[in-house]
Amino acid sequence: MRPFILHVFFFFFLHGCVLQGAAALSTSSRWIVDDDGSRVKMACVNWAAHLEGVVAEGLSRRPLDSISKKISSLGFNCVRLTWPLFLATNDSLASLTVRESFLRLALHDSIVGVEANNPELIDAPLIQAFQAAVASLGRNNIMVILDNHTSKPGWCCSASDGSGFFGDLYFDPEEWLRGLARMATLFSTTPAVVAMSLRNELRGPRQNAVHAANPNALVILSGLSFSTDLSFLRRRQLDDLPFARRKLVFEFHWYAFSDGQAWARGNPNQVCATVAGGVMRRAGFLLEQGWPLLMSEFGADQRGTNVNDRRYLSCALAAAAHLDLDWALWALQGSYYIREGTAGVEEVYGLLSSDWCSIRNATFLQRISALQSPFLGPGLPSSPPYQIIFHPASGLCLLGSSRAGSVRLGRCTETEAWSHTAEGTLALRDTSSCLRAEGAGKQARISTQCGGAASRWAAISDSKMHLASQVPGDGGGTVCLDVGADGTTAITNPCECLTGGGGACEPERQWFRIVSSARPIAAKSSAAAGDWGYLKRVEAFDVLSS
Ligand SMILES: *[C@@H]1O[C@H](CO)[C@@H](O)[C@H](O)[C@H]1NC(C)=O
Ligand SMILES: *[C@@H]1O[C@H](CO)[C@@H](O)[C@H](O)[C@H]1NC(C)=O
Ligand SMILES: *[C@@H]1O[C@H](CO)[C@@H](O)[C@H](O)[C@H]1NC(C)=O
Repeated sequence: MRPFILHVFFFFFLHGCVLQGAAALSTSSRWIVDDDGSRVKMACVNWAAHLEGVVAEGLSRRPLDSISKKISSLGFNCVRLTWPLFLATNDSLASLTVRESFLRLALHDSIVGVEANNPELIDAPLIQAFQAAVASLGRNNIMVILDNHTSKPGWCCSASDGSGFFGDLYFDPEEWLRGLARMATLFSTTPAVVAMSLRNELRGPRQNAVHAANPNALVILSGLSFSTDLSFLRRRQLDDLPFARRKLVFEFHWYAFSDGQAWARGNPNQVCATVAGGVMRRAGFLLEQGWPLLMSEFGADQRGTNVNDRRYLSCALAAAAHLDLDWALWALQGSYYIREGTAGVEEVYGLLSSDWCSIRNATFLQRISALQSPFLGPGLPSSPPYQIIFHPASGLCLLGSSRAGSVRLGRCTETEAWSHTAEGTLALRDTSSCLRAEGAGKQARISTQCGGAASRWAAISDSKMHLASQVPGDGGGTVCLDVGADGTTAITNPCECLTGGGGACEPERQWFRIVSSARPIAAKSSAAAGDWGYLKRVEAFDVLSS
């Protein structure tokens, strides 16, 4: 976990090792695409294997294949698996067995756990246990990004961990090249997609050397910090690289703590505008320049008690939907064998509970799920794109009319095609109906009276996520789209926290983001209401893990 660091990153999509139905990926403008030129949206979760034990987390809790199947059943198509460089360059480390590695750290419970859940791995060398994790993901059709997270095994990152920069104690460029080559070779016959982060800009002949070593590799590249990177990219003629426009992807990280306590202290609308604006300047601009961009680490405390994280997450999810980013959530693991000297530490950012038996927070999963498939990009059939009205606090979308013109939120896959017209109406495409405000505390409705002020919606506040309308007459005035106490009925209420209010202000329930989409519109069925697909997935997941 490193806040706001852009770093060099290599994908090795090795020819001759074909995932079922998928072959080498390449890039086309800002999209990652398959052989047919159709978009492959990377919806990844980070799985740590870079800590002191140098074993993918969780193998003391669940059988490896059941973890892979869970990942897939939760809707992810990819894992960013983190590894320490020394696993590839230090043979005496790589040949330690899992048991020996845990014994060194006095992790006796973990040994017992691996013996029970993954008996075939307990006496396997670390490097084989790592290969087994990649193989299991590949078997389950999950793409793998190998992320070289640190040199020396351990929690990442601080400025003084000696792993940050060329010439640092644990960052020897020669060793790095050796590690790169070793890992590429190791996985050249593995049916999975391999990536390696280089965490620094490559210079001169080395860059081409990497490409020459594996001309089939899809290369993802960038510099160090965002600001460094920006100037580096503006100076650099990346297009001179022979592989640039078919191979390169950039990555960035975005956490709440990247901005200290700004989210907890400030007006959330203003903080969201400022912070998201910064992300656009430091990383998002690459999309406009036609480069793919992977938000390779983001995430939040899933207990919902961390105000800073809570507000950040709604803002970040809205941006990720709007930009239709490729992404990798931090993180899968519900707990660690050992982290920073303490055994069994819980990961409150983890998708899984600390015993790896269930998911930590179903609402959180619902919010992420909305972003797992592409909104736009080559291969999506629907044209022209329409708009959806995404509610990041729930991960739901505004659906059209159900009973008696009332409007509710539901799964984004069930959305109608909305159109935010030049007149400001939110119209249901190909109909004469539009969304209409009735007044504070009242349900929003679908109506064919689309002419008046109550049918015009403007995206207001600094975040531009309040959808405001004017209700005429006594007791009228400006109202904002909101969600009722049942969590699904669309209502309007006085607009909250447009300015000021600081730490006490909670506008997220009124945050909606209009997002362009070309996803096929699902056929409506009367059973659709209350049919929570994500919950079925959660159940399937829990069955698998038991
Ligand atoms: C290689 O790994 C072993 C086992 O962890 C360790 O004792 C040794 O110091 C490492 N060597 C180097 C050069 O880091
Ligand atoms: C892995 O990360 C370490 C730590 O920053 C770095 O020294 C090394 O060069 C990286 N290696 C690869 C193959 O990316
Ligand atoms: C899940 O997250 C929500 C906030 O998104 C929070 O209100 C809720 O309490 C969390 N549930 C659990 C079980 O932590």
